[in-house]
Amino acid sequence: MGSLLLDRLLVNIKGHDVSELSKIIVIGANSAIAVHCMRLWLAKAPAEIVLVGRNVERLQAVAADLRVRNPAVVLRVLSGDFTQTDSIADLAGQAWGTQPAAIVLLAQGVLPPQQDCQSDLAVCRAVLDVNAVSAALFAEAFAAKMEAAGAGTLAVLGSVAGDRGRQSNYIYGAAKGLMERYVQGLQHRFAGTAIKVVLLKPGPTDTPMTAAFKQQGMKLAPVADVAEQIVRAINQGVAVAYVPGKWRLIMMIIRHLPRIVFNRMRI
Ligand SMILES: NC(=O)c1ccc[n+]([C@@H]2O[C@H](COP(=O)([O-])OP(=O)(O)OC[C@H]3O[C@@H](n4cnc5c(N)ncnc54)[C@H](OP(=O)(O)O)[C@@H]3O)[C@@H](O)[C@H]2O)c1
Repeated sequence: MGSLLLDRLLVNIKGHDVSELSKIIVIGANSAIAVHCMRLWLAKAPAEIVLVGRNVERLQAVAADLRVRNPAVVLRVLSGDFTQTDSIADLAGQAWGTQPAAIVLLAQGVLPPQQDCQSDLAVCRAVLDVNAVSAALFAEAFAAKMEAAGAGTLAVLGSVAGDRGRQSNYIYGAAKGLMERYVQGLQHRFAGTAIKVVLLKPGPTDTPMTAAFKQQGMKLAPVADVAEQIVRAINQGVAVAYVPGKWRLIMMIIRHLPRIVFNRMRI
């Protein structure tokens, strides 16, 4: 009993305890990766999960599935337009409410074929808007709320594609690269505080986003495994996590290849 009280006191002093998981906010909540993360969090019985996205029917379907897995958890659904600054500010405000969140996960993303980004500037813009601008704006809105609360973990789904611009996906890669630089700055801002900012960099993972790659026979990591590693990295509050971990070495090699070698590769 005494040790329980001491634990509580320490949590209050530090103002941060991801293991308590009282409330979680997920942006882009019907992403396959996010859904698998939420399934894992549900097992820890947080008080509340707020699902935020653009399509209320799809979000409600996800919420219905999650509710069956843990009927005791409060699930709230919010929808809005991720391309509008006011809508993002409003969604962040509603999701946060008066109860601070232990974790905010940013999971929205879109990956059309690179050729479509090159031939249609509207597609190019959508990729930059969803993967970079909306993610940075949501992050900034929640950063202010976490700063006021003095606690929280902000987890951002980046990608290995952000590590070096490549001909096969450099528009998407540029958006993810922007998020890497953004997160770096936020980590610097919150260094030495109880606020953690975690950048997750999955490699190719088996989700609707990569359905076309799967058809082409590309080897994809199982989404449940990737989610498990993401949840672990968030719990540990690491700065950057490659998932699966082998991508750290692969991308280190790709980043360091001399241009004369790199430019001959068709990747
Ligand atoms: N799968 C991979 O191989 C992989 C690898 C590295 C990084 N990632 C990143 O991981 C995150 C989750 O990806 P996933 O694989 O789980 O993909 P997913 O299942 O296709 O989910 C993508 C999510 O983004 C949302 N979204 C797309 N366009 C949007 C828009 N204009 N406005 C609002 N929401 C929008 C989708 O909502 P709707 O359902 O409403 O469209 C969905 O919730 C993304 O940031 C992705 O870039 C994925």
